[in-house]
Formats: sequence, C-alpha cells, structure tokens
Amino acid sequence: MTEALVARGVDPARLVLVEFNPMFCRLLRTRYPTATIVQGDAYGLRRALSDVVPQHTAAAVVSSLPIVTKPIRARLRLVNEALSFLSSGAPFVQFTYAVGPPLQRALSGVLAEASERIWLNLPPARVWIYRRPDFPGHLGRCGA
Ligand SMILES: C[S@@+](CC[C@H](N)C(=O)[O-])C[C@H]1O[C@@H](n2cnc3c(N)ncnc32)[C@H](O)[C@@H]1O
Repeated sequence: MTEALVARGVDPARLVLVEFNPMFCRLLRTRYPTATIVQGDAYGLRRALSDVVPQHTAAAVVSSLPIVTKPIRARLRLVNEALSFLSSGAPFVQFTYAVGPPLQRALSGVLAEASERIWLNLPPARVWIYRRPDFPGHLGRCGA
C-alpha cells in the first residue's frame, strides 16, 4: 500500500507508517528511509501516534488493517482515534474484502461512503471512507 501511495506522488517524508510486525518495520525502514515508521498496535492508535502526530493535523489515514474480524468496539475505537488525528473533513480510508461495511452502525457525526466493488482486485475489494465533514460534502453510496 505504501508503494502505491508513493507511486501516486505522496512524498514518503510525509508518511507515518504504523506496523505491528518488526520484520516488516525493518523492510519499510529500508525502502522508505525518510518515512516515519512506528512499530506498534494500530488498534491503540492514539497511544501509538501520540508522540508523532499532533491531533487534527493529518491529511489522511489509509488502512489495510484486518478489520472485520475485530470486535465492533475495537473497530469503532480505531475509526474514532484515527479521526482525532485528522484535520476536519480529511478521510479515514479502509480497504476491505468483506461484503458488508467495516462498521455496521453509524458513528455520530461521521459520514461514510463506499466505492464500487473492484472486481479486478483479487480477491475483489471495496474502499470505505469515513470523515467528519466541516462542509456539506458529497456522499456516494452510504452504508453505516
Ligand atoms: C493486509 S496486510 C497489508 C500489508 C501492506 N500494508 C500492504 O498493503 O501490502 C496487513 C498488515 O497489517 C499489519 N497489522 C495487522 N494488525 C495490526 C495492528 N493491530 N497494528 C499494526 N499493524 C497491524 C500486518 O502485520 C500486515 O503487515
């Protein structure tokens, strides 16, 4: 995913990468020496990023975390904590192979939109975006 972000023009120096696996962290440090790599648990995002990212400043959070296997409380906490790092209106982006949405119930004040199912991805995947709008933004197909 990092590779795809960088290929589309995101400066690696702007990236903060949260990864649990120490071997994967080493690989990321080698590949993206100017990125900030945080070895930690993304399901405790506030703690993992508290010394690294000021609240309400991030341009986006992009997640390829396994999510639908997690209890709903952990998912809600993840999205809430991610939104607390984002500037107003900025997106929390979550990939999922699941048929349903990552959150089955709405988060107060949070807009959700979903991409079409991308059949060319193996397995077919969908992208969900959650954001707290600071403007009456457009909404695609809404789920939770
Ligand atoms: C589906 S893989 C995606 C890997 C890579 N980001 C990519 O796009 O190719 C999910 C990654 O999330 C990491 N991961 C799983 N649970 C995590 C957690 N709680 N905190 C941080 N990273 C986690 C795994 O170690 C794995 O590298």
